[in-house]
Amino acid sequence: MKSKQSYQNYLIRCIIIMANKKYTVYSIAFAVTFLMGCKEENKKATESPIQIFSNARFGMFIHWDMSSVAGTEISWSRKGSKPLDITGDSAGYVADTAYDNLYKKFNPTNFDATKWVQLAKDAGMKYIVYTTKHHGGFCMWDTKQTDYNIMNTSFHRDVVKELSEACHKAGLMFGLYYSPRDWHQPDYGVGDNKKYVAYMNNELRELLTNYGKVDIIWWDSYGKGNLDSFWRIGETYKLVKGLQPDIIMNNRLAELGYYNKQPAAFVGDWDTPEQTIGNFQNNRHWESCMSIVKTPDGGGWSYRPDGTLRSFDECVHALVSCAVGDGNLLLDVGPNQLGEIPADQSSRLLQMGDWLKKYGASIYGTRGGPYKNGDWGGSTYNGNTVYLHIGKWNTDKLILPALHSKVLKCTNLSNPENVATFEQTDKNLIIHLPVNKQDSVDTIIMLELDGSAANEMKNNNPLEMK
Ligand code: GLC
Repeated sequence: MKSKQSYQNYLIRCIIIMANKKYTVYSIAFAVTFLMGCKEENKKATESPIQIFSNARFGMFIHWDMSSVAGTEISWSRKGSKPLDITGDSAGYVADTAYDNLYKKFNPTNFDATKWVQLAKDAGMKYIVYTTKHHGGFCMWDTKQTDYNIMNTSFHRDVVKELSEACHKAGLMFGLYYSPRDWHQPDYGVGDNKKYVAYMNNELRELLTNYGKVDIIWWDSYGKGNLDSFWRIGETYKLVKGLQPDIIMNNRLAELGYYNKQPAAFVGDWDTPEQTIGNFQNNRHWESCMSIVKTPDGGGWSYRPDGTLRSFDECVHALVSCAVGDGNLLLDVGPNQLGEIPADQSSRLLQMGDWLKKYGASIYGTRGGPYKNGDWGGSTYNGNTVYLHIGKWNTDKLILPALHSKVLKCTNLSNPENVATFEQTDKNLIIHLPVNKQDSVDTIIMLELDGSAANEMKNNNPLEMK
């Protein structure tokens, strides 16, 4: 901080000296560049953590623990009872004793946190959320609260530590997934549940004290019970905010599994549609979480060699659909028992990264709108620029509601040589592009307006096709 300031003072002195020496033109140019730089700095510094999260738009979810040894769904494949939860779930096909002993065979010698982080970066992802403890209760860090943890495997390395350090080094936001549900811990849900809540809070204290800055906590719901008296949600919330005041969190702390959602003061900072794209929503943040591998049982979060990889089109479509609806995409990978993100998953991510290198401006830092998404696609905007993401044309045109601003320029970003033209009437904005010039996945048309795109929406309501 100090050195940045003295550097700024030094630059100001240079400007004064240049001005005195009558290098007027240079000094003005220099001063303008300098002030613009300061403005950019200040903008970054004033962005709140949730704005930074929302601007990021694309993150990596990682579901990984000793369940990768069996290659069956994380936690859900444990056959036994799931206290306070759905019982006799169809995904339960590994006997309890077998499941609970998987960790003894877990030795992921190829795990390299820096490789995962580098892959996330190359995929254009700006944050990572990692399952420190899933519903099955196995802890992937050096915890003092239970022996059921990674330090008691032959691997004997603190995965949370290595991942957090790699994220910090690479400048990626670091997020903890933590499941308050714990089907393995003997005190879970017993009596007044006080003992379990204390256990859970002790775990959280470790996670939020020993690993530097934690940007995100991604809760995954409680089982049945009262949020206040049984789960003592207020105590946990206070503890978390006390230890990491800038932390942001999703809405699932105030959720009771798949059961009734209680109205609570602890709704968190964003909503979390799962395995589906959220609806247009620009008055509260949201993030769709989606596994890159699909399985018929709705899982595919963790390593599932029996699953099917989503196609590139599906992945791009998911990201674009989130952005035009004003949300984020948290795309999940499931590393294998050796600690590797399987090659097919990582090549899909790299394809996403290549796509984002070309079209990232239409995703990062944008908001959904001013048009409401629909069958045709949707739009994002940033300042005076609108990006139309068009999936379905009306043959060679797209007819949209009119804009108040004048369109100054219209560019087909998908292929600038295939020129798109536009007409503005009182009622409509019409974009023209010959059928054979349209992109098969997503044609991106950039419109530069003579006014702010946000102002096209009255009370923040997006413009809708009639
Ligand atoms: C569900 C599943 C869980 C997964 C999560 C991700 O809550 O129970 O396995 O981790 O979704 O959103």
